[in-house]
Amino acid sequence: MALPTIRSICCIGAGYVGGPTMAVIADRCPDVQVTVVDLNAERIAAWNGADLSRLPVYEPGLDVVLGRCRGRNLYFSTAVEEAIAVADLVFISVNTPTKTKGLGAGQASDLKWVEACARTVAKAAQGHTIVVEKSTLPVRTAEVIQQILFASEGSGVGETQPAKSFSVLSNPEFLAEGTAIADLEMPDRVLIGGHDSEAIEALSAIYGQWVAPQKILRTNLWSSELSKLAANAFLAQRISSINSIAAFCEATGANVREVARAIGADSRIGEKFLQAGPGFGGSCFKKDILNLVYLCRHYGLEEVAAYWEQVVKLNHWQQQRIARLVISKLFGTVSGKRIGVLGFAFKADTNDTRESPAIRICRDLLEEGAVLQIVDPKVNESQMARELDQPAGDGDGSWQQVPEVLQAASGADALLLLTEWQKFAQVDWPAVAALMRRPAWLFDARAKADAAAARAAGLNVWTVGEG
Ligand code: UDX
Ligand code: ADP
Repeated sequence: MALPTIRSICCIGAGYVGGPTMAVIADRCPDVQVTVVDLNAERIAAWNGADLSRLPVYEPGLDVVLGRCRGRNLYFSTAVEEAIAVADLVFISVNTPTKTKGLGAGQASDLKWVEACARTVAKAAQGHTIVVEKSTLPVRTAEVIQQILFASEGSGVGETQPAKSFSVLSNPEFLAEGTAIADLEMPDRVLIGGHDSEAIEALSAIYGQWVAPQKILRTNLWSSELSKLAANAFLAQRISSINSIAAFCEATGANVREVARAIGADSRIGEKFLQAGPGFGGSCFKKDILNLVYLCRHYGLEEVAAYWEQVVKLNHWQQQRIARLVISKLFGTVSGKRIGVLGFAFKADTNDTRESPAIRICRDLLEEGAVLQIVDPKVNESQMARELDQPAGDGDGSWQQVPEVLQAASGADALLLLTEWQKFAQVDWPAVAALMRRPAWLFDARAKADAAAARAAGLNVWTVGEG
């Protein structure tokens, strides 16, 4: 059947992916009505809030884009079925966390939300609908979605309604948090996988409003799904690789940033993603690699599974190593000692804390009795409490959120820099040092601070990857 031009889009899931992606699509396609729906009424209310500085997702530039199109052709709603019914195209952009129990626990993705979405789409859609998987999904999930949708095909809603039919596409999202708007506006590529060429062209026409045609790649469904897992696995592998070299540099007297510069100058390697740090966090890398590992094992590829699993193991090791190093430099015990933690988000310029390295490192220090004074410009206290699995409090093995670096340093034996927020590069070190107990330490796990200034102010400084 000839596909109509896309006039109306529904996105299920108003999260870190759905919100910014739909904002940019609505901004660039003023003739298309875009409705983002979510079961979480609080989240939808926050997206509709008058104060654009308090959106549920903090993302530089998002407020400006949203300001241009919200209420014009971009809407946020809890009326899931109504929005699906009028949509020519539905994006499924719900979360797919790693399963915590049952078959594949700890590795496979939990698809219950995706399945629920497919069932809702099957029920509520009218006429022909293109269904696009946007969430990171294991290879061949489109098949599950297809089976659910195709089972409802042919059924109409009465004499006047055309029978339902569906096309399923995979269109993975490659945006990185903190740079999401730029990544969406100027993507390296847009990937569309599917078997229905008319549906592929209809979705391409949306991106074609602002993305050059040669950047829109078309593949089969399974290649598209696997490309997302593979891209994230390759990126994460670079981080574990450089972190392994960082540990080696510390042991031998080399400097990992000099090594990174030298190897990154090789055009075959490239300079990006060679920043040593406390290990990768975020909602994607670990989940996607574990997914890949699970699928490889499923297909009997044990060596391939073990190869990728090591990327995640090294990442855990790096986080543990940093916690142990702090304890060892503080004379083997942190019990009752104040430690200022600079940064809790998994990277700068986001309020997202999913899989943040700060979680594991802080938990290890709390278990040893440390008193943590945590500062992060965008993460709120309830989010920290949830991630640390304990409320803010007093005494040994407790934590508190503080507003600024000065309060984090107050009475502290050490500062531990875990997120590379720009403000941590501009610390008044003499003022900070004056508030700390001696001997005082700066542990810089991101190489972000002005180490020379901190040393000049009398602090001992450890910087990741520096021997
Ligand atoms: C990632 C992918 O980049 C993106 O394409 C995909 O769609 C989702 O997953 P994201 O997790 O948002 O994006 O951020 P990213 O910039 O990739 O950083 C991930 C983690 O790696 C962060 O914790 C970051 O601090 C860390 N990192 C990144 C390093 O430690 N060193 C680096 O050189 C780069
Ligand atoms: P991501 O980083 O992938 O965007 P988030 O957790 O930020 O993940 O967002 C996913 C959103 O999907 C959440 O706001 C959640 O409430 C929503 N969601 C999950 N299942 C459904 C569903 N069946 N219908 C509508 N929204 C859903």
